[in-house]
Amino acid sequence: MARRAYTGDPWRVGVLFSRTGVTAVIEETQLRGTLLAIEEINAGGGVNGRELVPIIYDPGSEEASFARLADRLLTEDGVSTIFGCYTSSSRKAVLRVVERRNGLLWYPTLYEGFEYSPNIIYTGAAPNQNSVELADFLLENYGRRFYLVGSDYIYPRESNRIMRELLRRRRGVVLGERYLDLQAGPFDFKLLMREIKRARPDVIFSTVVGQATAYLYQAHAEAGLDAGTMPIASLTTSEAEIRLMGADVGCGHITAASYFEAVATASNASFVARYKKRFGEDEPTNLCVEAAYFQVHVFARALAEIDTMDTDLLRPIVLGSEFDAPQGHIAIDTDSSHTNLWTRIGRANRVGGFEIVRESGVPSSPDPYLMNY
Ligand code: ACM
Repeated sequence: MARRAYTGDPWRVGVLFSRTGVTAVIEETQLRGTLLAIEEINAGGGVNGRELVPIIYDPGSEEASFARLADRLLTEDGVSTIFGCYTSSSRKAVLRVVERRNGLLWYPTLYEGFEYSPNIIYTGAAPNQNSVELADFLLENYGRRFYLVGSDYIYPRESNRIMRELLRRRRGVVLGERYLDLQAGPFDFKLLMREIKRARPDVIFSTVVGQATAYLYQAHAEAGLDAGTMPIASLTTSEAEIRLMGADVGCGHITAASYFEAVATASNASFVARYKKRFGEDEPTNLCVEAAYFQVHVFARALAEIDTMDTDLLRPIVLGSEFDAPQGHIAIDTDSSHTNLWTRIGRANRVGGFEIVRESGVPSSPDPYLMNY
């Protein structure tokens, strides 16, 4: 019925977030953020009178499926813009496809940096927008002895390399560095936690992602360790992973992120209310939902201006554009295709949210190659 109000063919966009597999816990929320923005845009009449229609596939947390489905979107489905990817391995797989087919991938996830593609808009944090502040905060508040743990793929290995370097320059000490498979189970984390307990670090820096995040934090609690004196610190443990592990298990642990549900802006209060109305009162927002949400609005504004989805025409309009996102005012950086974002440190509370304990007063420019460090 609503379709009758539109004055032209729909704008078709691709959406690639996993609803199954090991990272579905967070990717499913990115899908929701994407859909909420699309629904809002359509409720306002679409873009230049044309409806936005998502073509949604489930890549099942498998990087080969991401590449195959991205290719299908850009060829058989005739789409040129894709919103998608959580893991850096899936982004790297899609990067090759969007570069070959001249598509545009919008990537709403923090990552390890050291990448640039003219076919990607990066709306999650680069390491200078989360890891640097986190290292300083942890050293000031908990101590110098770190243990690094991660899932076994590119983002954890590269993020830990950066953390190691930041710590080295600040007289921090790395006591150990271990990786577990993305599919690792509770018992693997129990064994790992025994090893960590023996090493007695001040901080466990975790780049474990997805389902396994719950096993890591549960193993910490079961080993009788105290988040007040030996917290797990992360860039990816959001409200979604805390919900998976249980608020009691997550309480006291530390995350650095551009966005938490607790951000006190009027724009965020309204965003959180709309999100809960659409997906349920018990559903928290998180940093990945927020980026997935605002990037669709940034896209739609650029599309309204240029009125074509041709990548070569749309991209220059996107670069330099600004938006009042739930986290605060953001801008897409013209040089790097990354985003000016806010930096915050949160401590998980008893009810599954985060108390913001440190906050940048202004957004910071992305420095994906850490040129200024
Ligand atoms: C990630 O793999 N960029 C979380």
